Amino acid sequence: MDKIAIEGGPRLSGSVRISGAKNAALPILASALLAEGTCTFKNVPALQDIRTMGRLLERLGCEVSGDRTVRVAAPTGGDRFEAPYELVKTMRASVVVLGPLVARYGRARVSLPGGCAIGARPIDQHLKGLEAMGATVSLSHGYVEAECERLRGARIVFDIPTVTGTENVMMAAALAEGRTVLENCAREPEVEELAQVLNKMGARITGAGTAEIHIDGVDTLHAIEHAIMPDRIEAGTFAIAAAITRGDVLLEGVRPEHLDAVVAKLRRAGVTVAAEGDGLRVSHSGDLQPIDITTQPYPGFPTDMQAQFMVLASLARGQSVIKEAIFENRFMHVPELGRMGADIHVDGRVAVIRGVKGLSGAQVMATDLRASASLVLAGLVAEGRTEVLRVYHLDRGYERIEDKLRPLGATIERHPG
Ligand code: EPZ
Repeated sequence: MDKIAIEGGPRLSGSVRISGAKNAALPILASALLAEGTCTFKNVPALQDIRTMGRLLERLGCEVSGDRTVRVAAPTGGDRFEAPYELVKTMRASVVVLGPLVARYGRARVSLPGGCAIGARPIDQHLKGLEAMGATVSLSHGYVEAECERLRGARIVFDIPTVTGTENVMMAAALAEGRTVLENCAREPEVEELAQVLNKMGARITGAGTAEIHIDGVDTLHAIEHAIMPDRIEAGTFAIAAAITRGDVLLEGVRPEHLDAVVAKLRRAGVTVAAEGDGLRVSHSGDLQPIDITTQPYPGFPTDMQAQFMVLASLARGQSVIKEAIFENRFMHVPELGRMGADIHVDGRVAVIRGVKGLSGAQVMATDLRASASLVLAGLVAEGRTEVLRVYHLDRGYERIEDKLRPLGATIERHPG
């Protein structure tokens, strides 16, 4: 297992191009199951999760080629509709093939993703939506099976805004008979971009990006070409790197409007953030101010930026409070940051962080994707050497983060393990 070694200290400066968004690319790749012909997706990030999705689509009979430009041709007849445990267990987002499979081929057998490090992460809302559209859904031997000759439009109110739940049901509704009205939807930009891709294919979707989405089903969808939008969470992660190293970094290819809640908190901490060219320039000098955060569905503060902000809070002058209101176990970076000298007290879903003068390098263990990013960030400013172990977690969501940080001045190396 690879590890990443970092010598803390250098202030980061220069510019970095932000990659395509992982959480947009995953459902968009799955949407190719709905289309007749070969879809071409550009600006796809070269990530482990993307490769896993490619392998899953091949298992489902698709022809998949390319890496940064990915071509996917779905089979015309569906005789392979199983998403196996060995793939789904490595990437729970595999569940987004469920809706497209049932809508296009009338059948799906998808391994239940099971829990993951950050929480139970049920898919009851995904299944509720498909059942409302007429699918017969059964659970057996760790798999969910869904069948339906032709899905019918329905009115569905999600109990909770769910990103992949909204995406799964929206994709299924695109080929259903009649109108589907989805309420209490997730409003994330990745949902909105998926709807744009589906409409390019010939779907008739309005309201994506708001809490209410209307889908008028059509009989067929056709292949398209699309370039994936930039990754707002990668951008936010690099913004924190610039802020805590007292650096000055231009994040190229960022959609600032996707980062309003994150930018507001950076500015609250005293960080300078300004639109420049096709991105954002993030710079800081002097003290960092404490910040209070509660993670929320979009457009609220994103849970995927919680661990990264905890590093900034650990170095601020004062006490910060961070509440994780989305997932039940997303503080696993806390004990690792504590080993580097951070002063963080957790009570349930609330973390109280008292700023310290500095962190010290240590060997630390990555546990989940964004936690591992926070450990790399901490290593950038810690005194001495930090080694982050099990960086396969990091590679799921960040393209060779060491190769992006080094040109900015970081002393960082990957050691194959
Ligand atoms: C998506 O996960 C993202 N993944 C996650 O990013 C992100 O943290 C999360 O949305 C929240 O923004 C992808 O888009 C591939 P949810 P998802 O369904 O869709 C509960 C990363 O680091 N829920 O919006 O799985 C659930 O338990 C990853 O890139 C149900 O109760 O998240 C959670 O508490 C991590 N029943 C809340 O809703 C359901 O049927 C939000 O989860 C579905 C969800």
